[in-house]
Formats: sequence, C-alpha cells, structure tokens
Amino acid sequence: AKKEKAEQILAEFRLQEEDLKKVMRRMQKEMDRGLRLETHQEASVKMLPTYVRSTPEGSEVGDFLSLDLGGTNFRVMLVKVGEGEAGHWSVKTKHQMYCIPEDAMTGTAEMLFDYISECISDFLDKHQMKHKKLPLGFTFSFPVRHEDIDKGILLNWTKGFKASGAEGNNIVGLLRDAIKRRGDFEMDVVAMVNDTVATMISCYYEDRQCEVGMIVGTGCNACYMEEMHNVELVEGEEGRMCVNTEWGAFGDAGELDEFLLEYDRAVDESSLNPGQQLYEKLIGGKYMGELVRLVLLPLVYEDLLYRAEGSEQLSPPGAFETRFVSHVETCARRRPRIQNVISKVYCLDSEHGRLPSPRAQRGCVHITMGVDGSVYKLHPIFKERFHASVRRLTPSCEITFIQSEDGSGRGAALVSAVACKKAYMLG
Ligand code: BG6
Ligand code: GLC
Repeated sequence: AKKEKAEQILAEFRLQEEDLKKVMRRMQKEMDRGLRLETHQEASVKMLPTYVRSTPEGSEVGDFLSLDLGGTNFRVMLVKVGEGEAGHWSVKTKHQMYCIPEDAMTGTAEMLFDYISECISDFLDKHQMKHKKLPLGFTFSFPVRHEDIDKGILLNWTKGFKASGAEGNNIVGLLRDAIKRRGDFEMDVVAMVNDTVATMISCYYEDRQCEVGMIVGTGCNACYMEEMHNVELVEGEEGRMCVNTEWGAFGDAGELDEFLLEYDRAVDESSLNPGQQLYEKLIGGKYMGELVRLVLLPLVYEDLLYRAEGSEQLSPPGAFETRFVSHVETCARRRPRIQNVISKVYCLDSEHGRLPSPRAQRGCVHITMGVDGSVYKLHPIFKERFHASVRRLTPSCEITFIQSEDGSGRGAALVSAVACKKAYMLG
C-alpha cells in the first residue's frame, strides 16, 4: 500500500507523449510570435536578435579577455585566437573562477560591476598583464535586447540575480563605467553574448553544422541560427543571424498552466521572480534541488520512503541542493528505490521525459547542437534521456550533440575576434 501511495504522488510527474507534443507545438507558436514584429511584445518567448551573423567579415587573431557571468561562477579567462588551415581556433590559456557574493547579486548594479572589475583587476595582477589593453568579450547570460554586438539592454534579471539599476540599461555601458571608475587598467569591450551563443560558436569551430546552442545549468535556454528575413526585429534580409530564444520564459503567459504541479507552483512562489521563467523552473539547476525536496517531504512525513528521522533536515527551504540530486542518482544505481523517486520527478526513467524539442522546426536533415551547463554535464542520466527524447520527438532530424568545453570563454573570444576585424575594416 505504501508503495502504491508513493507511486500515486510520483505519477503526477508523468507526461504522455501527446503532452510533450502539445508543449512542443505551443513552444513553436511562441517562437514564431516572438520573431514577428506585431506579436513580439506580448510573446513569452522573446527570440532576441544577437547580432552574431552567419557571414563574418574575417577575424582578428591574438589574445582576448573573456568574462563569463550568469552561471554557477563568475569567470575571467585569457583566450588565444589563431588561424589554421581549418579556420579559426581558440584555446583558453589562463583561467580564474570567482564566487559572486550574495550582496553583489542583489545589491545595486554599481556594486555588481565594481565587483566584476575588481575581479578583472585581480586576474591581471596575478598574470602581470595590467599594462595590456586587451579586447574583451563578455558572456552575459541573461535576456538582453541588443542594438549591436557591443550594446544591449538587460530586459530582466533571471536565476537569482536582482541587482537594482541594471534592468533597462546598457550592460556594456555599465561594465565600461565600472572599469573607468576603478581606473587601474583599461579594456576594449568589443562584444557581449549570451552563454547559449558562446556555446554554439565555440562548437561551430569544431563542427560547421553546429547551429544550435543550449544550456541546461543554473538556468535553461537555447539559441539557433535563423534566416534574416524571419528576424523581423532587425533590418535586412540577407544571410542568417543567431537568435537567443530565452525559452526559459515560456509558460509566463499561461501556456504551461495545465502541466504545472503544486510543487512547481511552490518553487515559483518562493523564487525571487514569481510568475517568471516558468519553463526554466521545471528544468534548471537553480530549482531542481528545491523541487525534489518538496516532493520528498510528504513521502518522508508519511513514511513512504525511508525512515522519517531525516525529515527535519529536509524542512528548511533550499535544504536539498541540486548537486545532491546528481549525487543520489549516482549512488542510487545500486539502490533502485531512491533512484525511482528522483527519476520519476524528472521522468527520466521512461519514454515520457519532461523535455521538449530544443529547436525551432525547420525540417532539417542533419544538425549539430552545442550543449553546456552543470545539469547536462553532471547529472548521471539527464544527457542520455534528453538525447533519446529529442530524437524521438524530431524523427526527421539527424542530431549530433557536442558537449562544449570552455565554451563561454572561447565563444566570447571568437565573437570578439570577428567584431574587432569589423571595427578595423570600418575604422
Ligand atoms: C558553463 C558556461 O560551462 O556553463 C557558462 O561556460 C554557462 O557560460 C554555464 O553559463 C551554465 O551552466 P551552470 O550550471 O554553471 O549554470
Ligand atoms: C537564463 C537566462 C538566459 C541564459 C540561461 C542559461 O534562462 O535568462 O539568458 O542563457 O539562463 O544560463
């Protein structure tokens, strides 16, 4: 009877194939609405033009500084871009990770960007590079409305960031101001990209068919190359441009209402941005641990799982970190009962993964997707189940998945190298 009761709770997480297809169709509709001028404003999936184009005007070579803000850690990297027979390559040569303190994430934009320039200064000191004015590529993993590759306003924070005075402002401007305020080094900020874009670009140099980038980490998002004539927000018809879908916000206009469970709603309500990023909250690492905790609580209280002694440890919000999910999954390969619970919350053990199609349908033959993020990389079974679900839902596509390595740093440097060349040509 206990087993049945537990099964009953977990069954709520099961999505039928038809449900997945429904979600997929709705997502496609929102993507189309996001691309079109007349519906863009109200579309939940914003489909933001990135100004990363398919026909680059060549590329500079040399050293670039890359910043990566918006994932688990803030990172500063030195990346070398070179040219070989197969095109441009990039390699990370120096690297430092910095933890963003809570007060910088949720204080003022000035505090956050002062902290970032303090980290850059520390990095340059450590590597005796203070005197160099390097070109800088900024991977900024939030929804940005670009006006150019080095100019874009933050639409809204996601993933627990909340620094005031940043939304509605040009992020590259805030960075440049902070560097100026500090005054002990100079940088030439040439490009700003989303992490999905950096990931796609870094993989593109490995596989020329890579035209989708996806992150399943703290947050969840994807970008892809779109025909310019479909990108109505930007003038011009020629060639293609990368579009940052910001699909994490799918559901914010009610599209997921029939699929949201009480646990999903509780996770949303206790977040810093209730009512926003509903799709991201079903998948992203920022929320996964909390979701599992909320499901485990009644199971433990009703003694349906294991001895209830641990229940008070599970009680405080946030007590079950996302990394524990991966850890338990890994250990539980020998203890199927635990694995069953967590797998079922994410429906990873069945034909019915809660995972939608990751790309706009274009009737493609062969496509490559660059992927990054801690959930994708560290969760022991997410990847294989994800691949299987995507392939099942898009039978007409042959999809190759590439796991990006140092994607954000290398991608930002590669985009900056193109931006430098263009500036040089125009200049
Ligand atoms: C990293 C990328 O590896 O993955 C980042 O370099 C990206 O740019 C990150 O934001 C996403 O994963 P997580 O788990 O750190 O949010
Ligand atoms: C959030 C951000 C998005 C980013 C994603 C993955 O969804 O809004 O810009 O790409 O997280 O980091």
